[in-house]
Amino acid sequence: MLIHWPAIAGHPPSSDIHQSIRLGTWRALERHVREGTLAHIGVSNYTLAHLTQLAANCTIKPAVLQVEIHPWFIPQAEIDWCKANNVVVEAYSSLGEGKRLGVARAQVLLAWARMHGWVVLPKARSEERMRINLKSVRVDLTSDEVEALDRVARGKNHKFCWDPSKWRK
Ligand SMILES: NC(=O)c1ccc[n+]([C@@H]2O[C@H](COP(=O)([O-])OP(=O)(O)OC[C@H]3O[C@@H](n4cnc5c(N)ncnc54)[C@H](OP(=O)(O)O)[C@@H]3O)[C@@H](O)[C@H]2O)c1
Repeated sequence: MLIHWPAIAGHPPSSDIHQSIRLGTWRALERHVREGTLAHIGVSNYTLAHLTQLAANCTIKPAVLQVEIHPWFIPQAEIDWCKANNVVVEAYSSLGEGKRLGVARAQVLLAWARMHGWVVLPKARSEERMRINLKSVRVDLTSDEVEALDRVARGKNHKFCWDPSKWRK
């Protein structure tokens, strides 16, 4: 079970309500883990500020951070925090929401994320595309190729999906 978003709809980013509801929700999830009704709990779209605040106030660490990752947007600070804290990173919008993608490029993008060690969550409606995407597990890139894709992102910082960074509290 994941908390989808670090903020509450209908309140300005500066409101204290985001932090209090976020921590309250986490405590409720922790209770379910202790009672055995949830096996693993995690968060999505949390920035480094949200993650460190959660770590300072939780008894059970998140198992996973689900976050937008592709070569145009690599949230390095959050990825480093997850590595240091043994939290699984799960990438979404790995295909840039599918904009102008060919088969080869889709598989390369999925292989790139997998070779970084992130869990990848591609979305596809047709069985054919699901098969194509699944076959990316057989695509291995060289370390030079992975680094070349890493370099595409530098300075670009382009997100396809939403941006949680204005909720700083
Ligand atoms: N936690 C969050 O806030 C959050 C935010 C966004 C997304 N997500 C989740 O992440 C997953 C991925 O979401 P996403 O839609 O953002 O991104 P995505 O996986 O980057 O892109 C999905 C798009 O790519 C197309 N596509 C899939 N495979 C393809 C292929 N082999 N060749 C060409 N196009 C291909 C799909 O088309 P068709 O569907 O037409 O096949 C769809 O339009 C979803 O499960 C979503 O629920 C989570």
